Amino acid sequence: MGTLPTLVMETFLHHTLKETRQQGLYRTLRHLQSVPDSRVIVDGHQVIQFSSNNYLGLANHPALKQAAKAAIEQYGVGSAASRLITGNITLYDQLEDRLARFKGTEAAIVFPTGYQTNIGTIASLMGPEDLIFSDALNHASIIDGCRLSEARVLVYPHRDVEALENMIRTAAPALKKLIITDGVFSMDGTLAPLPGLTFLAKKYDCWLMVDEAHATGVYGTHGRGTAEHFSVEGEVDIHMGTFSKALGSLGGYVAGSRRLIDFLINKCRNLIYTTGLPPAVLAANQAAIDLVEKDGELRKGLWDRVHFFRSRLISLGFNTLQSETQIIPVVTGDPELTMEFSRYLFEQGILAHGIRPPTVPQGLSRIRIAIMATHAWEDLARGLEVLEKAGTQFKII
Ligand SMILES: Cc1ncc(COP(=O)(O)O)c(C=O)c1O
Repeated sequence: MGTLPTLVMETFLHHTLKETRQQGLYRTLRHLQSVPDSRVIVDGHQVIQFSSNNYLGLANHPALKQAAKAAIEQYGVGSAASRLITGNITLYDQLEDRLARFKGTEAAIVFPTGYQTNIGTIASLMGPEDLIFSDALNHASIIDGCRLSEARVLVYPHRDVEALENMIRTAAPALKKLIITDGVFSMDGTLAPLPGLTFLAKKYDCWLMVDEAHATGVYGTHGRGTAEHFSVEGEVDIHMGTFSKALGSLGGYVAGSRRLIDFLINKCRNLIYTTGLPPAVLAANQAAIDLVEKDGELRKGLWDRVHFFRSRLISLGFNTLQSETQIIPVVTGDPELTMEFSRYLFEQGILAHGIRPPTVPQGLSRIRIAIMATHAWEDLARGLEVLEKAGTQFKII
């Protein structure tokens, strides 16, 4: 008894891994052995970091570390229960008030991660009688949230407002309708066409949800994200974002109306059935908002570097797709070649991860470059030098 199921499971594991290897899609973990700055030690090698979402360098910022240390002294290291039981330490209230003021919304709520925020928010708001319009390149957490909701999902071509309007016009009626988009797309580095989306949302009576994971702290004069950048903040119903990228720490959030936030507190399983964030994280997040709101210099430093790096890549002949943000794909095509390309970069002291299907479409495997405000100019120059050498050697340019 029990031998056959065990054997079936072992065979399943063995064959799946073998097939994954054969497809050139096998994944392994690397080991970061230093603070996550623009130069890091990975697997024993000192390398220049081009794979981090720590766009403003806040993950090792003294103000965040100080806030985290003070919070540990006052509250300890864990919240020890879910928020609806006794894990709702007062740092949550302070952070959520601060976040709502920052985003200019009535209220805000903080989740353990951005992934949890998306799946929980979408799945609790939408149901089988509802309809979701989702950009083809939306993040996996949005896709998973849509699946979990059991709503009908219509995927519109990436950033194609006209195609979306046709879809909305011809779709069978639904109880509630939601348009959902990344603000900055995490793999192509493109920007959502928010003015067009807000227009359609109003015209066809849909709600609009914008995922500002890669835009919070980076886009807009005050770092509030792409809705601020496009001056459409008042027209977005659900402002979603994360603390885990430019804000340097961990957690996700939703900002919006008081009623929306009360609904999530009551109905969102991903908030109710999980432990609250540790005090150090909550305090660091508040310090990060203070910093990004007042320090426009951080963003200026980032944009100067982004414009320099992307224009040089393009003039070297690399295909950077339609990237216009701090995320710059360098298309390499084949998954195995992509991983070899990435290994070569690593040997030359450049950390830039290869991205393969299913994260990106077949034929569009790539090296995903992310620029940081804290990159030294000579490190950017070195990155370009190595990329040029690799591009020639692998016949990409
Ligand atoms: C667009 C987008 N949304 C959500 C997430 C999830 O955020 P987190 O890493 O905080 O769980 C990510 C992270 O990769 C992302 O790129």
